[in-house]
Amino acid sequence: MTTTMTHTPGTTTGTSGTTRAVTAAPYVVKDPDDHSDTTVLVLGGTGKTGRRLVPLLKDHGARVRAASRRGPVRFDWDDPNTWEPALDGADAVYLVDAQDRPGQWDAEASIRAFAGLAVDRGVRRMVLLQARVTEQVGGKSLIAGERGVRECGAEWTVLRPNWFFQNFDEGVFLDCVLAGELPLPAGDGLEPFVDADDVAAVAAAALLEDGHAGRTYELSGPRALTFGQVIDTIAHATGRDVRYHPVTHQEYVDELLCYDVAADYALFLADLAAQIRDSKNAEPTDDVRRVLGREPRDFDDFVKDAVARGVWDL
Ligand SMILES: NC(=O)c1ccc[n+]([C@@H]2O[C@H](COP(=O)([O-])OP(=O)(O)OC[C@H]3O[C@@H](n4cnc5c(N)ncnc54)[C@H](OP(=O)(O)O)[C@@H]3O)[C@@H](O)[C@H]2O)c1
Repeated sequence: MTTTMTHTPGTTTGTSGTTRAVTAAPYVVKDPDDHSDTTVLVLGGTGKTGRRLVPLLKDHGARVRAASRRGPVRFDWDDPNTWEPALDGADAVYLVDAQDRPGQWDAEASIRAFAGLAVDRGVRRMVLLQARVTEQVGGKSLIAGERGVRECGAEWTVLRPNWFFQNFDEGVFLDCVLAGELPLPAGDGLEPFVDADDVAAVAAAALLEDGHAGRTYELSGPRALTFGQVIDTIAHATGRDVRYHPVTHQEYVDELLCYDVAADYALFLADLAAQIRDSKNAEPTDDVRRVLGREPRDFDDFVKDAVARGVWDL
């Protein structure tokens, strides 16, 4: 919504003391909540955060291009021919990378190339989703894309979230929860899991509001939990027999290989879980509250809602 304000015609007194009429000159004061002149390209537009971000941006009046390999706008990191058409008309980009194939993915080079192209095509603001894992996992960095975005010339904000709640009801752990056992080499390590809705809300703020440029936000939930506590909470809420089964790093890799998971991806996942085993990023942060002005959602609320939706019903 744009507010049009008009000068009231009146008079002014000049230096000579003569009085002259001031002509009505309409001018426009932009409503800070009006984003109808902003077009945001959302990469990973079908994914956990992208899918949640799209309606938030639309609610604020922005035009949205939700992109992915199977999204309404086609975008494929492996096919640079799709990059420029996806950027058509975009002022801002939510940038989600493709870390599910660690062996084949040169995140730094691809993100740098894409970010450079985006700026050439008129993008002024970029929000990059990475992860709150700064050590190498499976021989790769999960924050390798940051430099390319920081150096691209657009305003940038980096999001480094902890693991999402939604891994348990729509992502990688859903099948194990349904099967009644989650084997993982995460021991009794602690992780302050975060709601993907909160991550999307922070992304929306960073894309639409001023004041987030040059910031790196570490996004956690309010409490650190072990996988044992997470699974017990789900078991209790569903009344089902679901257990967390801590395994060794090697046992986990071997098991994934049995399911024909590629060796580099198996190692990547095991290394990722080992970050939790060692409680590497276990301290809750207050970045969600600082950006959104409210507390992040608690895991118990998420579980209550997921039970009501019947996602863990057999
Ligand atoms: N899951 C977590 O707990 C977590 C925590 C912290 C950070 N992260 C970060 O969040 C990002 C997304 O991870 P996620 O596991 O949550 O996945 P996700 O966002 O749920 O799904 C991945 C998204 O990327 C798209 N995509 C995948 N490969 C692509 C490609 N080659 N080209 C273009 N688009 C592609 C997918 O759509 P199509 O299949 O239609 O292409 C989908 O929209 C990663 O960078 C990850 O490090 C995740």
